[in-house]
Amino acid sequence: MLSYRHIYHAGNFADVFKHVVLLQILRALLRKETAFFVLDTHAGIGRYELAQAEAQKNREFDTGVMRVLDCADPPAAVADYIAQIRALNPVGHELTTYPGSPYLIRALLRSQDRLVLSELHPADVIELKRVFAGDKLVAVHQQDAYQGLKAYLPPAERRGLVLIDPPYERKDEYERVADSLATAYQRWPTGTYVIWYPILSRSLVMRFHHAIVGTGIRKILCAELCIDADTDRTAFVGSGLLVINPPWQLKEELSTQLPWLWRCLAQSGQGRQTVEWLVPE
Ligand SMILES: C[S@@+](CC[C@H](N)C(=O)[O-])C[C@H]1O[C@@H](n2cnc3c(N)ncnc32)[C@H](O)[C@@H]1O
Repeated sequence: MLSYRHIYHAGNFADVFKHVVLLQILRALLRKETAFFVLDTHAGIGRYELAQAEAQKNREFDTGVMRVLDCADPPAAVADYIAQIRALNPVGHELTTYPGSPYLIRALLRSQDRLVLSELHPADVIELKRVFAGDKLVAVHQQDAYQGLKAYLPPAERRGLVLIDPPYERKDEYERVADSLATAYQRWPTGTYVIWYPILSRSLVMRFHHAIVGTGIRKILCAELCIDADTDRTAFVGSGLLVINPPWQLKEELSTQLPWLWRCLAQSGQGRQTVEWLVPE
């Protein structure tokens, strides 16, 4: 059932986009001294060794993070992302390790903040527990993401972020995301939620957006980055992020960063980038 392994895709163009946005939201949370909480519902293994056979199979990082490291004049948010990647790798050496979302989040936590990770894959959760063994700020659970959304919300901290990053292996994953989001939001309407989705065909994306709009939730920003032209065949041309309750000015900031990311990542000149309100305030 759980055949998806993120190591095959670590550091690809979709990871770059997701992680650049994730870092900015965390930076916004860090502006206040008061503690915040992060729930990463589909955590993966935390960080990825790019020399491993699985990562080497398609070397997806070559057209993702490696391109970003090579492109000139990155905007400040991308420079911040690059600094996080560099910090994890020996100075002056080729990139060997790519941080997953848990590692990127953990790197920014202060002693008052807290991270909860859920991951269902039995092998991946063992690795995730190993990476964060003994870390008092991080709790790792072998748990279904959608149960976790009920179990951990609302958090005592009352401020923070939920990252929902499923593999969309199951046909009903889009509906599960929309339904669980509606329940989670009822429990915690002031949290920031980031939902990643693949752009496989425009009609699938429109159905997903329709389901999200149907939850009645407001203040949903939608950013998309495609490195190939939209199609109605099922082909992975790009990815999207929905951000509920985004930090102030995220839309304006992404409007200046996404054209740079698109130029850097879509070297064929195909595809597009957009940032707009799916549902305004
Ligand atoms: C796209 S990967 C996550 C990548 C990670 N968020 C990152 O950015 O580094 C999706 C992960 O979700 C896990 N997964 C799939 N279904 C799940 C579920 N129902 N609950 C929790 N984890 C699940 C998979 O095993 C996989 O490791």
